[in-house]
Amino acid sequence: MIVSLVQTKGGTGKSTLALNLAFSKKMWQAFDSIALIEFDPQGTLRDWWQAREENHWQTKKVSFHHISSTQKEVVQDGIKSINLHNDLLIIDTPGESTGKLHTKIACAISDLVVIPTRSSTNEELALSNKLLPILKEIIKINPQKQGAFYILPAFVNPRSTKDKILQYFEEILPPYVGCLACVFPLRSVYENFNRDGMAMQEYMKSVKNNRRVYQQASKTMNDVEEIAKTILQCLEVRNT
Ligand SMILES: Nc1ncnc2c1ncn2[C@@H]1O[C@H](COP(=O)(O)OP(=O)(O)OP(=O)(O)O)[C@@H](O)[C@H]1O
Ligand SMILES: [Mg+2]
Repeated sequence: MIVSLVQTKGGTGKSTLALNLAFSKKMWQAFDSIALIEFDPQGTLRDWWQAREENHWQTKKVSFHHISSTQKEVVQDGIKSINLHNDLLIIDTPGESTGKLHTKIACAISDLVVIPTRSSTNEELALSNKLLPILKEIIKINPQKQGAFYILPAFVNPRSTKDKILQYFEEILPPYVGCLACVFPLRSVYENFNRDGMAMQEYMKSVKNNRRVYQQASKTMNDVEEIAKTILQCLEVRNT
């Protein structure tokens, strides 16, 4: 099973979500081995993983792989061999203004593509001009990909009503892109939870003496579990 986090626009939370989904309870319940794969040449997650190893944080079911080649065949071969040894692959793609090679490969090979997107005029314009044409082309080549692409409303004000946001996206999206039935709320705790290679669960333990930050962190854990649950439901529907 392959799930990708994709958004050609940078800084929408792809890497943050990818690593926390890989360490989420829901994914650990559903899969025995999880490969967290980074396509980003900048190596944000690679550096984070290195810090994780240096600090001896548990990885248990999760392995990490950095594939940053710009040769399509090299990327595809890398994915094929990781897929042989893992039940779930979570791919983090870079924000790409040109070429969009990694975005295109991830969209073409995934069972489910999650597209974290903010609701602003700029982001929506970027989505329709840059990413939607890629998705349309993939569906044209492979009609089975219809139903694989889902927007995840990101950086959502925690006070806003989830249903209204989802309704808003459903109205502006073309028929070949869905909207996940959950949101990725804006929370300041995401800014620095990942120092020293921590995932949110370890960060939460590290701040247990600070009630305010601890509560924030536990809310983000709930957000991620809800997103993981929704992704699993989508995968189930696609496989029946
Ligand atoms: N839900 C959130 N609420 C608040 N801040 C967030 C949230 N998710 C991520 N961030 C912060 O926003 C910044 C961008 O996040 P992240 O690196 O995950 O985005 P990205 O889509 O992977 O970016 P890029 O396209 O550059 O790879 C980071 O500083 C991160 O800590
Ligand atoms: Mg990233």
